Amino acid sequence: SLNNYLFKYKGYVFAKGETTGEYIDSLQHFEIRDGDVFLVTYPKSGTIWTQNIINLICEDAADKTKFPNNLEKMPWLEYREGRPDYSLRPSPRLFATHLTPTLMPPGLRDKRGKIVYVLRNPKDNAVSYYHFSLVWAKLETPKNFEDFLQQYLAGNVGGSSWFDHVREWYSKRDQYSILFLSYEDMVMDLRTAVEKISKFLEKNLDDAAIAHIVEKATFKNMKKDPRANYEFIPGDRLLKPQFMRKGTVGDWKNTFTVAQNEMFDQIFKERMKNIPLHFIWD
Ligand code: PPS
Repeated sequence: SLNNYLFKYKGYVFAKGETTGEYIDSLQHFEIRDGDVFLVTYPKSGTIWTQNIINLICEDAADKTKFPNNLEKMPWLEYREGRPDYSLRPSPRLFATHLTPTLMPPGLRDKRGKIVYVLRNPKDNAVSYYHFSLVWAKLETPKNFEDFLQQYLAGNVGGSSWFDHVREWYSKRDQYSILFLSYEDMVMDLRTAVEKISKFLEKNLDDAAIAHIVEKATFKNMKKDPRANYEFIPGDRLLKPQFMRKGTVGDWKNTFTVAQNEMFDQIFKERMKNIPLHFIWD
């Protein structure tokens, strides 16, 4: 069952205080423009990383003064708090979201806006989410990893089930103008990922511009970049500033027991049946 920090609306689990059902419903009337870009992820899949990359790709000189950090340049669609009037924003408007297809503005299905979907192997995803739950004040602090893993597998965490999220977006992909990328591919070859995203967003960047973005998006550089690293989040929410925690593939091996791994593999096989996505686990 859901802990006290969470609530369910239309089958999707949200953190309390961040939004309301009423606001989520209002997104059904959110008008999509050509040129809108939505970054869609299950939590802890590389959102803030890709947000930085897309922001850099779409950056023009004027933006730097307008938006003090990446969160304001690419706000979260579903969080109501402090929401400006997005209809006043010039194009291209950029949004990040963890929502599932049915909760998204319906106009996206007409392929007007573009969607970048980033997914991450769910073992590393679960470990990353566990560590995040330890430092994010608005989530229940898990007793231990085993406890968290059970809730994660049951979909009793913000963002609901990883399996449902990935399955749903993947199986509805033909309705959208969507680019699928994996966190692991980005770790292995960041330059190719940046090129793919800029091509998808129809930005013709020269080699120097691509190289500049790649440099700014490395884990090391993002960690010390105040526009990108989310250290601007107040301390009463973020107990320890570690949005850039480890940034590797295969960290699950340091956390999963053999028994947890076997159980996970079985559930993965079952729930990802007929989804021909390829995952890199280490
Ligand atoms: S959130 O809260 O849903 O927005 O979190 P999200 O940004 O999706 O995921 C956090 C993980 O992404 C890692 N990260 C990076 N990895 C590699 N390179 C760069 N530049 C980078 N930036 C963020 C971050 O470290 C989290 O993963 P873990 O495994 O916890 O380190």
